[in-house]
Amino acid sequence: MVDEMGGRHMFEKMRLQKYISRCGIASRRHAEEMIREGRIRVNGKVVTEMGMTVSALDLVECDGKPIVPEENPVYIMLNKPGGYVTTVSDPEGRKTVMDLIDGVRERVYPVGRLDYDTEGLLILTNDGDFAHRMTHPRHQVTKTYIAEVEGIPSQEALQKLRTGVMLDERLTSPAKVELLEEKKNGAVLRITIHEGRNRQVKRMCEAVGHPVQSLKRIAFGGLRLGDLKPGKWRYISAQEVKRIKGD
Ligand code: URA
Repeated sequence: MVDEMGGRHMFEKMRLQKYISRCGIASRRHAEEMIREGRIRVNGKVVTEMGMTVSALDLVECDGKPIVPEENPVYIMLNKPGGYVTTVSDPEGRKTVMDLIDGVRERVYPVGRLDYDTEGLLILTNDGDFAHRMTHPRHQVTKTYIAEVEGIPSQEALQKLRTGVMLDERLTSPAKVELLEEKKNGAVLRITIHEGRNRQVKRMCEAVGHPVQSLKRIAFGGLRLGDLKPGKWRYISAQEVKRIKGD
């Protein structure tokens, strides 16, 4: 049975690791580790083999605590404004993106991160497997940013950004970089990368002598921010999820 969000009904049988990831506590890969480590019990018995299938009618426990599938896998797109952290809570008491997600019953988590002052497209979901797929370097999911930078980068600087700059003694992977606009004291760049190193776009631009003044993510995988207003969110349709997953 498929519900309107494109998710499968939880009474359907599925492999244990997939079921665990649908509970929102781990990616499928991490769930496999948990199974191997003997942390998972099904109907009272420790299971360390991968092949088992379960449904919401089985009692599945992790470290002795029952885990319950989220009713629906939900996928949300938020236009994150500046001044919010992308963690669920903040030890410094700053506002978090969770403060902007109202009316969502399921426990969702941010997929990857954006800096405190970065704006734009952030996905939140309770589907740990999807989150893993979107952020693991192996999948090379592309992310597109609009960066306002100080000064006007030369062709040489743009080429350097494209072919790779040295960050932490390692060259960045090839990037797509376009100069969209020249302003009086700066320029607007569109930059597409598929890595996710810490503060990557800012550090890349800094490395070629053009510090970033503002940064906004406009696309993540096949998903575009469109005209969603800052601070607003919407569900990602089943069709969009399918497209992103490539299935
Ligand atoms: N690159 C950055 O420098 N910051 C972000 O928030 C995202 C990408």
